[in-house]
Amino acid sequence: MWQLTNQESEMLLRALERAPGADAEMLLAAASLRRHLDSTSAGTSEDLEAESTAIPSCTLHVCTSCRPRSAPREPREERPGLRLYQAVRAAIEASSLKQRVDVRPADCLSLCPRPCGVALSSPGAWSYLFGDQGSNAHDIVECVRTYLGSTGGHLPRDRRPETMRANILGRVPPGLGVPRGEGT
Ligand code: FES
Repeated sequence: MWQLTNQESEMLLRALERAPGADAEMLLAAASLRRHLDSTSAGTSEDLEAESTAIPSCTLHVCTSCRPRSAPREPREERPGLRLYQAVRAAIEASSLKQRVDVRPADCLSLCPRPCGVALSSPGAWSYLFGDQGSNAHDIVECVRTYLGSTGGHLPRDRRPETMRANILGRVPPGLGVPRGEGT
């Protein structure tokens, strides 16, 4: 019987996960293939090398209060920020990243005039704040994927999706974890 190698399966899986128009059925197929790969693969040397330099996990905060001026305050369940949070959470759940990304709601990220806001962080890595995020959960997931595969959370402009280039609002260097007075 014809079978895909693990490398071919991995390539197919990545294509499925990154397909911009991926519907729920495709995402479920991708999740199923990911489970199969995880249970059968011990990991190639390339995988192991990538894992050794990648960020192990990260937190993605999505402001659930965000709304443009034109959108009503109530009901809160209708706010674009909350909808974006739900879409991103579902997209991460259906992806190969679900064990590595903690998607959390935030009340406000202090970028209210630039809705919707998301923040990306991980211990020992750069942290980022993005505004102007609409309903494009796919691009946010791709940015998180790049972040996790980077060294120290370095996210150059040309490696971020188009919708996450001009609207970066800030980045913070990794903390050194040195208590005050002990670093000098
Ligand atoms: S309401 Fe979303 S950043 Fe303030």
